[in-house]
Amino acid sequence: MERLNHKWAGEEHSTQLLQAQAHIWNHIFSFINSMTLKSAIELGIPDIIKKHGRPITLSELTSALPIHPTKIPSVYRLMRILVHSGIFAKKKLTKLDEEEGYILTDASQLLLKDHPFSITPFVMAMLNPIVTKPWHYMNTWFQNNDPAAFNTAYGMTFWDYSTQEPSLANFFNDAMASDTRLVTSVLLKECKGVFEGLKSLVDVGGGTGTMAKAIVDAFPEIDCTVLDLPHVVADLQGSKNLKYAGGDMFEAVPPADAIILKWILHDWSDEDSVKILERCKEAITSNKKKGKVIIIDMNVENQKGDHESIETQLFFDTLMMMMTTGKERNEKEWAQLFSDAGFSDYKITPILGLRSLIEVYP
Ligand SMILES: C[S@@+](CC[C@H](N)C(=O)[O-])C[C@H]1O[C@@H](n2cnc3c(N)ncnc32)[C@H](O)[C@@H]1O
Repeated sequence: MERLNHKWAGEEHSTQLLQAQAHIWNHIFSFINSMTLKSAIELGIPDIIKKHGRPITLSELTSALPIHPTKIPSVYRLMRILVHSGIFAKKKLTKLDEEEGYILTDASQLLLKDHPFSITPFVMAMLNPIVTKPWHYMNTWFQNNDPAAFNTAYGMTFWDYSTQEPSLANFFNDAMASDTRLVTSVLLKECKGVFEGLKSLVDVGGGTGTMAKAIVDAFPEIDCTVLDLPHVVADLQGSKNLKYAGGDMFEAVPPADAIILKWILHDWSDEDSVKILERCKEAITSNKKKGKVIIIDMNVENQKGDHESIETQLFFDTLMMMMTTGKERNEKEWAQLFSDAGFSDYKITPILGLRSLIEVYP
């Protein structure tokens, strides 16, 4: 048997050894946080708690759940881990009562089906087996020359697969729309000035038009165009000042005072991002005008000392590496892209939680 490294051999190191084991165990089973969250959503637990209107006891919850009677004892264990992970909380039924019931936290409020900013479509999309499958190909991808692990798993890009597989396109577009509802609401509340004075706007890769609709509602004087892949916008109906255009942002972007790129550039390599930005620059400088590009994406390494925020940004960066050819960027990397695409200035406003509003000027 191989001799143990001296560092681990002595008894004084047992605690360190067991801590190391526990650290790896925690990593192995981190997916349980995702899967228990998904199960709670599928069982409708957030909505059952909301409907109850006061802390719900375990027996009230189990009797409201659509489960087999043999699974009743397992509900306590599902709720225990979800309380531990901060998805739900416990509260005494009354001040004098010892009995406790489950309540929603800020996080699970966002899982409610009818919450205007429900994040449930995003959870269900990211944990859909079509999206989780490429993670099993990470090592194969490290050893081949495919651009993303998604290509290794499916033999084509994420965008080509969405064209062929309507279920992926549907749940992905719903997920994007749910995120955009929340972001747009914050943007229009905190940074309305960004849109003031504009007469025309193109939301490039604007999906099914969630952001564009909110902008034309708030600014009826702006003519908005949503440019996306033909299959995404094919059946969508515009309105007086909202138009849908099927096309390719690498080919051409319609002229406008401003361009929005929300969650677009993090999908693409530096080379591709520069091409997209060049098309945007052409669009905002046509007719001798000088407009701007409005980017909503992460500016990583700007969250000092907040472990969970940094970890979440790293999760997104790895997700982009696996699904697309993109990445999350720090300020230096953003500045390089802007300069390579021929822009002369930019302003980063970190008002969107883990993401920032980035305005870029020709
Ligand atoms: C991550 S989603 C973001 C959607 C939307 N901006 C949002 O944040 O809700 C990326 C979008 O880019 C679109 N897209 C991908 N390739 C494109 C291309 N070549 N031209 C135009 N749009 C494209 C996708 O269909 C998708 O709607």
